[in-house]
Amino acid sequence: MEILEMNYINFRNLEDRNIQFSPRFNLFFGKNGQGKTSILEAIYFSATGKSFRTSKNIELIKYNKDKMGSYISYRDLISEKTLSVKSDKKNKEYKYNNKKTSFDEFYGKINVITFIPEDIELIMGSPSFRRSFFDSEIAQSNYDYFKNLKNYNKILKIRNKYLKEKKTKEVIFSIYEEEFIKSASKIILKRIEYVKNISIILNLNYRKLFDDKKELCLKYESFIGEFKGLNLEKIEEKIKVKINELKDQEIKYGYSLVGPQRDDFKFILNNKDAKSYSSQGEKKSIIFSLKLSEIDMVIREKREAPIFLIDDIASYFDSVRKDNIIDYLKKRELQVFISSTSDLNIESKNFRIDKGEIQNGNHECK
Ligand SMILES: Nc1ncnc2c1ncn2[C@@H]1O[C@H](COP(=O)(O)OP(=O)(O)O)[C@@H](O)[C@H]1O
Ligand SMILES: [Mg+2]
Repeated sequence: MEILEMNYINFRNLEDRNIQFSPRFNLFFGKNGQGKTSILEAIYFSATGKSFRTSKNIELIKYNKDKMGSYISYRDLISEKTLSVKSDKKNKEYKYNNKKTSFDEFYGKINVITFIPEDIELIMGSPSFRRSFFDSEIAQSNYDYFKNLKNYNKILKIRNKYLKEKKTKEVIFSIYEEEFIKSASKIILKRIEYVKNISIILNLNYRKLFDDKKELCLKYESFIGEFKGLNLEKIEEKIKVKINELKDQEIKYGYSLVGPQRDDFKFILNNKDAKSYSSQGEKKSIIFSLKLSEIDMVIREKREAPIFLIDDIASYFDSVRKDNIIDYLKKRELQVFISSTSDLNIESKNFRIDKGEIQNGNHECK
């Protein structure tokens, strides 16, 4: 997959522009505070309709303006296509090939993997942060998962409402509960499969790029407990057992104590939880390896490479790690967008960013 060009209007501090990209490396360089992250964010926003920094639309609109918009043309395996988003402070409007479309239709047309310094939160942050990350990663190349997750969240809300109002004896509650169990077990089964597959690739990538003497593994921890060898029906049974176990407490507390919204994911390096035992450098390497593994997962699901955005590479990695990463990326057939404050040893299309203004330029920032 390849983004050919992009247009944006009133996006953060960026001066309105039309940019043509290289199918391989695109480098945005400049000093801090000039708009490097914003340009990557604009690419991400154009491709997915969302930001990787905020869920608040209004923050993306240039100060003192009411609206912003983006447009991109891209090429996938089949043909050239376009996506555009218009947004005011409240609403967004999505278009695919110049026709209005819903967000659900829009999302997932282009697969994007990002690496931003804040990703370290995937190790250090809350379980809900990890869940929403892995959920959206699975969803972006699996439409059934995306739909089911939406459905699940809807039913969960309803279930919680009934629990809160202590209406669990009503017939309708048991109907919802059946749907709840079915939907929950589909989520769990897909997460089990995903983690099993990505964990193998993750270990390979980590060893190849960073440390071939260590073993890295991603572990899924579900509220259902041990899940080895379980199919959909068996997972449903386990959920039913859990519900019976916790029903009284659920009514007491007034919300669901069962369900995949209580699951978590752990990174295990040499049999130890990375959150508590790994060094900063190791954590960064784990997350970068995870991102590379996601690229492989998208290729596996979609038979096509996603685009890859890397923010602030030079300030995040020491020069040895950085060189390893660049060498690795050179060997892959990917369209990559990198921002950096310092020079990188790659052949790339270069864009210099100065106070939101982007100019085609050479490597000159030291
Ligand atoms: N909605 C907005 N409108 C105008 N400027 C903004 C907006 N949001 C952030 N900025 C400013 O944009 C500048 C560039 O930010 P950023 O892209 O994070 O820089 P860099 O990644 O190059 O360090 C910052 O000075 C920030 O204050
Ligand atoms: Mg930045």
